Amino acid sequence: MREEKLLELLGEMSLEEKIGQMVQLTGDFFEAGSVITGPAAKLGLSEENVRLAGSVLGIAGAKRLKRIQKAYMERHPHGIPLLFMADVINGFRTVFPVPLAMGATFSPKLAKEASAAAAREATAAGLHVTFSPMADLVRDARWGRVMESTGEDPYLNGRFAAALVEGYRENGLSACVKHFAGYGAPVAGREYNHAELSMQTLREFHFPAYEAAVRAGCELVMPAFNTLNGVPCTSDHWLLSDVLKGEMGFDGVVISDWNAVGELTGHRTAKDLRQAAEEAVLAGVDIDMMSMAYAVYLKDLVLSGRVPEERIDQAAFKVLRLKNSKGLFEHPWPDSEEKESAVFLCGPHRKLAVRMAEESAVLLKNDGLLPLSNPSKTVAFIGPYLDSPDTYGAWAVFQDRNDTVTVSQAVRQSGHFPNALFAKGCDMLENATVYGFGKREVFGFDEKRRETLFREAEEMAAKADAAVLFLGEHMLQSGEAASRGEIGIPDVQLELFSRVRAVNKNTAVVVFSGRPLDLRQVSAGAKALLAVFMPGTMGGTAIVHLLSGEAAPSGRLPMSFPYSVGQVPVFYNETSTGRPYEKNGTEPKFVSKYIDIPNEPLYPFGYGLSYTEFSYSPMRLKETAPNEFLAEATVTNTGAVGAKEVVQLYIRDEAASTTRPVRELKGFEKIWLEPGESRTVGFSITPDMLRICDRDGQFRWEPGAFTAYIGHDSRTENGAEFCLR
Ligand code: GLC
Repeated sequence: MREEKLLELLGEMSLEEKIGQMVQLTGDFFEAGSVITGPAAKLGLSEENVRLAGSVLGIAGAKRLKRIQKAYMERHPHGIPLLFMADVINGFRTVFPVPLAMGATFSPKLAKEASAAAAREATAAGLHVTFSPMADLVRDARWGRVMESTGEDPYLNGRFAAALVEGYRENGLSACVKHFAGYGAPVAGREYNHAELSMQTLREFHFPAYEAAVRAGCELVMPAFNTLNGVPCTSDHWLLSDVLKGEMGFDGVVISDWNAVGELTGHRTAKDLRQAAEEAVLAGVDIDMMSMAYAVYLKDLVLSGRVPEERIDQAAFKVLRLKNSKGLFEHPWPDSEEKESAVFLCGPHRKLAVRMAEESAVLLKNDGLLPLSNPSKTVAFIGPYLDSPDTYGAWAVFQDRNDTVTVSQAVRQSGHFPNALFAKGCDMLENATVYGFGKREVFGFDEKRRETLFREAEEMAAKADAAVLFLGEHMLQSGEAASRGEIGIPDVQLELFSRVRAVNKNTAVVVFSGRPLDLRQVSAGAKALLAVFMPGTMGGTAIVHLLSGEAAPSGRLPMSFPYSVGQVPVFYNETSTGRPYEKNGTEPKFVSKYIDIPNEPLYPFGYGLSYTEFSYSPMRLKETAPNEFLAEATVTNTGAVGAKEVVQLYIRDEAASTTRPVRELKGFEKIWLEPGESRTVGFSITPDMLRICDRDGQFRWEPGAFTAYIGHDSRTENGAEFCLR
């Protein structure tokens, strides 16, 4: 309907109805016959609150949502439709690799195709909004939610956040960027812990990706659970109003995280739920997700003059405007349930999932063992991930694990390994229990079983030409509330690795994880090492394509893999310090380094191998206009197979008014080169790309000397100097 009609509607609504638009509840409250019990009842949630609530989270299904919507609209005084929102993070029914893996593709284009596919499936299931992209910058592998981020670089994160938003929105799904801001930097890597970030770090590293999502048109923003420099994001007026609305120009809906309004009492910045409601609504939170604070206290806060009714009008109108922008007043439910079965796991989506899983795998080591392209060879496939369907990530809430193509199924289906041998080798974990949303998995310890499994694997590996081990942390050891103090591969799996490696030196390891792991032992002992993160529904198929050489790895690390957890947080775009450590330096002690481990990560940002080699010409740099430059290099595939290369541009600001990272990613391009083929890749460099947060917190570029590099990863020295005047 036209906006003036919407304003008329707002004018006709009671205060209770307007507040209702600011309340979000889970789907169970809306099922026929549901009764308010437990914490919600204790907090004072009433049937009236449910009758007027404006949005629902966490349920999907065309039939179910149509039933709920019809019943709800019939009971609503003005027949206002519900908004249905859910976490569609890495796909809906077709599950793509987790976002950290998406980042490893260095292909925002591919991510946009994946979010478009996810939107087609989610909207067919009746959803209107996804709580995605997660644009939190991450540097600490102990934090479980690094799995949901695209990594440690603000430029890379911004490119992906924008691409994901575009893919969602162009296919009818509104996007909610989260978690604003700095949730990716919890002190000690411990979930929900506070974040302490300087203005420079916030503005140069954490804000850009959220802002990229806002510029790409995301309709909602979700503040983070954590406190940022002492203030909870959920009640931070500076963050949610001055920065988000004032500086970034966001005019959409701000929706709290789950019970985050209620958690203001946990942060002890609100003495009770009533004060929490007042703080959050005045800071700029428009919708309260599941804390009941708005439902129970907002009316009284308005009537008592603590909260102006204009603020309620503003929030309610934003929600109505979002519903109207999606045509819900005219089309409140999907036009047909048949769409679901036509689009869920359809051929194009499966093919896209294979492509993304192939392009997100990062080849970390290869001493000539891969690809295993000779079908006459006997290959032993071993490990707890061989038959596991749980490779879709902790946030794939609408998937069916039976949809997963496991590695062993893919090996059998592929025909690439007619002499394949299979052995589980060991359990995923021992003496451990892992939890997920509505899931719990208990692992015991059985010495006899353990030894039997090991022996079986050893015998199989001993008679094979090569052994491939499928190892990694359990899927539920990453994601929300999954911080780890140790970030290694589970001990039982490392023992399996040692025993297999002892009988077959031609051992490769494929590692599944939701985070960078400490891979020192497998890196030292294996002849090949492939990181696949959590590769989704079609991960098994993609892995077999890569192992057999049907596809060549092209992933590059979006987040550094540390030498050990002692290095964490470790990231390439660090500052040099006043006493920079130099590999060939002469000062043995008084420089910025550890005395017991190296400074460098085991594998750095932007790193990844292929089945071919790429050479780079010396970088060429020319000034095309005052203070504008063109940086170029010619890249050649010097190997025997066609493959993709991610050509990366880094820039180092040699000196500035604030300390600068040793280098920063400022561009990348993924290209395909046939054997022997060369291509010149160029990047424009403008002052705007080189703006910094100065001592006054202002963003501006400064004249001075810079060095640009074009190369294979963040360690490239293929550079040339230039000056901004
Ligand atoms: C969670 C997460 C958030 C998610 C929300 C709704 O606790 O922090 O990312 O979107 O609840 O499920």
